[in-house]
Amino acid sequence: MSEHNPFPDEGNTGHIWDDNLRELSNPPPNWWMMAWYASIAFVIGYGLIYPMIPLATTHTKGFTGWTAIGEYKADLAAVEAARKPYEDKIAAMSAKEILADEALSTYVEHSGKVLFGDNCSACHGAGGAGNVGFPVLADDDWLFGGTIEQIQTTITNGRKGMMTAHAATLSAAEIDTLANYVVGLSEGNADEKGKALFQSKACFACHGMDAKGMAALGSANLTDGIWRFDEADKVASAKRTIAHGVNAAGDAKTRNAEMPAFKDKLSEADIKKMAVYVYKFGGGK
Ligand code: HEC
Ligand code: HEC
Repeated sequence: MSEHNPFPDEGNTGHIWDDNLRELSNPPPNWWMMAWYASIAFVIGYGLIYPMIPLATTHTKGFTGWTAIGEYKADLAAVEAARKPYEDKIAAMSAKEILADEALSTYVEHSGKVLFGDNCSACHGAGGAGNVGFPVLADDDWLFGGTIEQIQTTITNGRKGMMTAHAATLSAAEIDTLANYVVGLSEGNADEKGKALFQSKACFACHGMDAKGMAALGSANLTDGIWRFDEADKVASAKRTIAHGVNAAGDAKTRNAEMPAFKDKLSEADIKKMAVYVYKFGGGK
């Protein structure tokens, strides 16, 4: 840097290198200064209106008192106010009446998704599509009956289908004949020998003479080709069910099938909603 200034009149800062390269002291352009002042004004204005600066235990509030959580709560209150007329009606009506009311049942169809997702779909799958060991709710094949009242009872009290184990009372050959018979029922090749055995052993007492099942017992319809306990080999799967039963006490290989009761977990109104929601999957009767 030079000590002398070869350009004394041009208003430079005196920072000069090689007698030529030098720093001038021109002001920034006007547009730049205006933007600078505008941004300062914006920060001050923002701080006056909205919460901004964190303090030791609180923060500046802004004179409007606006908060994000306040806005959220106001929105939520608006949604609840819009829902209240529907919720009041649902509380006062039976599930059957809700189903018959088009506006209400449409409301349940839309608002029930979260409730079903939180409480039911872990077992029954999204949209009631079913899972291994958990029945499909979207078809018209029901263990315990598909009227709106039966569905509501299922959800309220839970269900536990019971089939005794037969490993000790039937021979391996008899179990084989029966398994082939029940699989044959839906595949059109059931034989008379199997039928005679089915109707002479206790099978008919729970499944009925026609093997179509009884809703009161939750005994499956064995003729429709829909298998509750589905495995790749249908005959082997039926053999296991026949030998070890369903929820049979003391049998380690029994099928476990229990629908939990919801009367202590969900309000009565929510149970009604779930009954309508399940019914409206399309399989209700
Ligand atoms: C822990 C698993 C589980 C949960 C959670 C569950 N279920 Fe079930 N559900 C089952 C099982 C297992 C069965 C079959 C019971 C049987 O075979 O005896 C069943 C049966 C049913 C049935 C009877 C189906 C028929 O064919 O008759 C309905 C209806 C039903 N569940 C609805 C629901 C609804 C609605 C919810 C949520 C509020 C729910 N379930 C939650 C396991 C569950
Ligand atoms: C005490 C009543 C009872 C008796 C006796 C009984 N069952 Fe069952 N059975 C049931 C019930 C209930 C279910 C359905 C369980 C469930 O899904 O919760 C069932 C399910 C089945 C299944 C499985 C159906 C499926 O969809 O996967 C087969 C196969 C079957 N029974 C065959 C028989 C045969 C053969 C006999 C005679 C040896 C017999 N059952 C005797 C009550 C009975």
